[in-house]
Amino acid sequence: MLFLRMIPFFAFIGIISITADLEFNNVNCFTYDKQFMEYEYCYLKAVNRTYKYLSLKAVLHKLPVYTAKVVFKIAKRDTRNIFERFNGSINACTFLKDRKNPFASLIFSTFAPFSNLNHTCPFNHDIILDKLPIQYVNSVVKNFFPFGRYLLNLTFYNENILRTDIIVYFTNT
Ligand SMILES: *[C@@H]1O[C@H](CO)[C@@H](O)[C@H](O)[C@H]1NC(C)=O
Ligand SMILES: *[C@@H]1O[C@H](CO)[C@@H](O)[C@H](O)[C@H]1NC(C)=O
Ligand SMILES: *[C@@H]1O[C@H](CO)[C@@H](O)[C@H](O)[C@H]1NC(C)=O
Ligand SMILES: *[C@@H]1O[C@H](CO)[C@@H](O)[C@H](O)[C@H]1NC(C)=O
Repeated sequence: MLFLRMIPFFAFIGIISITADLEFNNVNCFTYDKQFMEYEYCYLKAVNRTYKYLSLKAVLHKLPVYTAKVVFKIAKRDTRNIFERFNGSINACTFLKDRKNPFASLIFSTFAPFSNLNHTCPFNHDIILDKLPIQYVNSVVKNFFPFGRYLLNLTFYNENILRTDIIVYFTNT
């Protein structure tokens, strides 16, 4: 089911740009309900030309968390228009249990070692992403994206309630 939904994405990413250089420009984290969760921090930091990292800490006020759905939307855009869109969703708790979705596994493997997320549900703690090196994520994902400017919108739902959006702006030059 989920794999079928991925097919348009694989068609979209079919143009492989071998010399691509992916740049993460900005990240924004939004919460919809501060009674449920708040961000202590969420930022990109450039240490030098080759080392840039992403750190975030989400403090969860209603623990434990038994369900989590992630909806992702990727839009290719210029300053005014959006050219192409791709979206999909994944049940995070199902994925963490069976690790069956190959695309999710690829993405998860890029950040899991820098997070405290590598375990099955429920979640009984705050969510931390600690100094995820962007160069490394770039090297894994850059060939999926044709040249251009993108917006990735990750929306998290819990008990079918919208909880948070993480917006990542990136450019493939
Ligand atoms: C960038 O910073 C990292 C961490 O401090 C360091 O290991 C690396 O050598 C630096 N790279 C350059 C090109 O200065
Ligand atoms: C993806 O977008 C389409 C069209 O906007 C929408 O009908 C569909 O429900 C979306 N799928 C997900 C998983 O958000
Ligand atoms: C998750 O943890 C398991 C057990 O410690 C480890 O074998 C696996 O490589 C980790 N997965 C990722 C994506 O980091
Ligand atoms: C991200 O997606 C959510 C849920 O659909 C939406 O409410 C929000 O406006 C989107 N944010 C951006 C920057 O597109």
